Amino acid sequence: MSDEAKPAEKGEDTKPTRTARKAHGQTEVTVRRIHRRDLNKTWEFLKLCFREVNRDTVEYQRPRSKKRFLEVYEEEGIEQLLFEVPKAEGTEIVGYAECAFEVTGSDNWMNESFFTRRDMRPMFVEELAVHPSYQGRGVGSFLLEQLEHLARVRGCTHLVLEVAENNRRALQFYRARHFQKLDAALFLSKRINTEGELLAPRPLKPRKAAEPKAPGGAAAPKTRRPKAR
Ligand SMILES: CC(C)(COP(=O)(O)OP(=O)(O)OC[C@H]1O[C@@H](n2cnc3c(N)ncnc32)[C@H](O)[C@@H]1OP(=O)(O)O)[C@@H](O)C(=O)NCCC(=O)NCCS
Repeated sequence: MSDEAKPAEKGEDTKPTRTARKAHGQTEVTVRRIHRRDLNKTWEFLKLCFREVNRDTVEYQRPRSKKRFLEVYEEEGIEQLLFEVPKAEGTEIVGYAECAFEVTGSDNWMNESFFTRRDMRPMFVEELAVHPSYQGRGVGSFLLEQLEHLARVRGCTHLVLEVAENNRRALQFYRARHFQKLDAALFLSKRINTEGELLAPRPLKPRKAAEPKAPGGAAAPKTRRPKAR
């Protein structure tokens, strides 16, 4: 395995490939591996990136849960990359990419034999997110190129990912970059004519008029109903 192809340990090689600087007046985006100290701010970043997407999809697209996110950092064989731009003090995260080289996670439903039977060696793109105010400026393309590069140097034959069909922006983005549908997992729904379990609101009866009082305070004697004959 060449040096380039050798996977780095988590937290190692966290330096940007190029130092964050401006080239010809243009802000440069740099990439580095995530470090433990980045975890909290990266989690907040991911929630921000997926806020809009999650509003319109049945399944919460991403991120999964903070617990899972923190576990991922400890797992072998997963790459977590941060893309940053310089700001007045330090840097700002503008992109995050995560990929795995094996089916991972206890909640994973991926059928590995699908790939082996087809002689595919997939790289799983677990997460791709760009800061909302940096979208449409080529950051997403950089993320994907970086993952493709990693796949190539690690000997993978395909990038595989899951995206919600109604995440139109992302779908368009992938289609424009030659991704094709692998399998069809659709959410279907049918409306059922239901009856509510609880009854409809009911008007409140007016209060009964108070019975007139007899002189001396006693209630007026009740008038007798005549007997039926
Ligand atoms: C999907 C996503 C990663 C793309 O990142 P990006 O930085 O916008 O990507 P780029 O700038 O490289 O390309 C965006 C494309 O959309 C087009 N676009 C048009 N209007 C746009 C707009 N207002 N904002 C963003 N992109 C726009 C761009 O021109 C470009 O077109 P191209 O495919 O012909 O090159 C990003 O939108 C994102 O993080 N979305 C939220 C999280 C998400 O859905 N992730 C994917 C889950 S599987």
